[in-house]
Amino acid sequence: MDWGLANRMHRMFRPTSRNTVMLAVDHGYFMGPTRRLEDAGATIAPLVPYADALALTRGILRHAVAPTVPTPIVLRVSGGVTVLHDDLSHEALTTSMADAVRLNAAAVAMSVFVGAPHEHESLVNLGNLVDAGEAAGIPVMAITAVGKELEKRDARYLALACRVSAELGAHLVKTYYCDGFSKVVEGCPVPLVVAGGPRLESDRAALELARRAIDEGAHGIDMGRNIWQSDHPVAMLKALRAIVHERATVGEAMDVLASERAPAAAPA
Ligand code: R5P
Repeated sequence: MDWGLANRMHRMFRPTSRNTVMLAVDHGYFMGPTRRLEDAGATIAPLVPYADALALTRGILRHAVAPTVPTPIVLRVSGGVTVLHDDLSHEALTTSMADAVRLNAAAVAMSVFVGAPHEHESLVNLGNLVDAGEAAGIPVMAITAVGKELEKRDARYLALACRVSAELGAHLVKTYYCDGFSKVVEGCPVPLVVAGGPRLESDRAALELARRAIDEGAHGIDMGRNIWQSDHPVAMLKALRAIVHERATVGEAMDVLASERAPAAAPA
């Protein structure tokens, strides 16, 4: 691995835990103004100090994040279809490596649609993006997208999608937690981080998901809705950090959440 690429990889992971807490705020690229991300700048600002990396598109980066931010940027560079279509796999690369360099990205990210109608295009796009990333010294994160059928994606499927992504040269992979997740980890030679998916029934459920993912070999999380759709996003992010970096139990993380919650507003 070239020095620049290795340096960018290391910037995203805490040296002590060798894990990362990425904040995902890229949903608008295909979902539009997602609930509680309508004003992306307002959502992101209080969370940035507690994120090891910020995962987003160039549009939101340029419009909603100050260039003084020291946080490494994981730049989403794929898109081209929206939730208005049933088949979400018809994506292409929508941002050039030259723009990623201009934006000082620590990594670029694209969705990979294994088993979907446009599997071939997305895998070829991944190969091309890795070529461009290697040339620029910028790591590539493959996102094993599951379209609208998350519940159908099991360990066998995710292990295949993660392994194929790594074989094509991805330097890290974002995937979903599932039963049998350790099998996904075992088959993937590059670091895995897990997304949270749609908002779970409680903050505790999201903390449990993170705890299990770390226990079973994930190198961190790249989580969005279960943080900023929580009623206590900063407290939630701090609680997740306790799990990912300090190996806190779910109970300990719940204590962090309780102690970091903003005090209730005084009655008028
Ligand atoms: C898809 O919209 C993106 O890849 C998200 O960054 C990813 O799904 C993580 O966000 P969440 O935890 O909300 O699923």
